[in-house]
Amino acid sequence: MKETAKNKFNDIRKIIDRKLDEYIDVIYPENIYESMKYSLLAGGKRLRPVMAVETALMLGCNEENIIPAATAIEMLHCQSLIHDDMPCIDNDDYRRGKLSNHKKFGEATALLAGDALLSYAPKIIIDKTPKTVPSEILLKVLREFFIAAGVDGIISGQVVDIDSEKKKISKETLSFIYEYKTAKLFKLAVRTGALIAGADEKQLQLLTDFASYYGHAFQIYDDILDVTSTLEELGKTPGKDANVEKSTYVSMYGLEEAKKQALFLCDKACDILYSNRYQSEILLGVVSDISEGIKKCS
Ligand code: IPE
Ligand code: IPE
Ligand code: MG
Ligand code: MG
Ligand code: MG
Repeated sequence: MKETAKNKFNDIRKIIDRKLDEYIDVIYPENIYESMKYSLLAGGKRLRPVMAVETALMLGCNEENIIPAATAIEMLHCQSLIHDDMPCIDNDDYRRGKLSNHKKFGEATALLAGDALLSYAPKIIIDKTPKTVPSEILLKVLREFFIAAGVDGIISGQVVDIDSEKKKISKETLSFIYEYKTAKLFKLAVRTGALIAGADEKQLQLLTDFASYYGHAFQIYDDILDVTSTLEELGKTPGKDANVEKSTYVSMYGLEEAKKQALFLCDKACDILYSNRYQSEILLGVVSDISEGIKKCS
């Protein structure tokens, strides 16, 4: 990502970090709030909320109108990570460079912290979005949120992901997993930004396609890093996918072909931005971070 884009990205990230802290007070019963905040404030790239904010800004929206919904999307993402790490799913001891939530607070609290974030997030959208945003837009944003969070989104992706361990699956099934467990959340991010900015159907569709290409490329890159990176670099345990025989692009196509396919998807994502004059250094930058990262992996 270009230096200028990096600075803009960091400015938005700092606002999101501040809001994640500000929107949740630790009250009785403290343990659950502390568990929620532990994972939320453990770091993380904040890609999804920054992409939501940047999409809205690119389409002419005020920053304050999109910040609450963008922060809520990070809460949803964080919930998906807490549950993903639990022993019954991926059984990961580390996340964002720290002990995973269930390792720190125990399984029951981690399960409930995930549930708590999932329901806290839409409440934030309702309570904190400025009243100048029309309620019919807010209703659309909430609908998108519930789709991405639920059985039409991440949940089905995770179900098929778990179900596909130690199995030979079709390319279509693999693509379903990536679309649902990962791309849906990026789609939610850009669509939320676009909806709050008052975008039309055509713009929504273009940005949805962009997020789909990006999301697939992102998950392939995550799978590549699982085999090429270290605990220090990742902040989570590497080698997990091979250990449990997860079905991934790397296991299905091999490392080199997986890289090639991810780079192809990055090109497709960039094409949408260029050919529609979506001149966002940040959106172009997040794609180029993946393609540059992949080129360095071996
Ligand atoms: C991890 O997402 C989950 C996947 C979809 C692979 P990120 O790599 O964006 O995780 P954080 O938010 O930076 O920790
Ligand atoms: C991420 O898939 C999908 C969700 C968290 C919903 P992974 O299981 O590969 O993510 P990491 O590698 O644990 O971050
Ligand atoms: Mg997983
Ligand atoms: Mg995992
Ligand atoms: Mg992974």
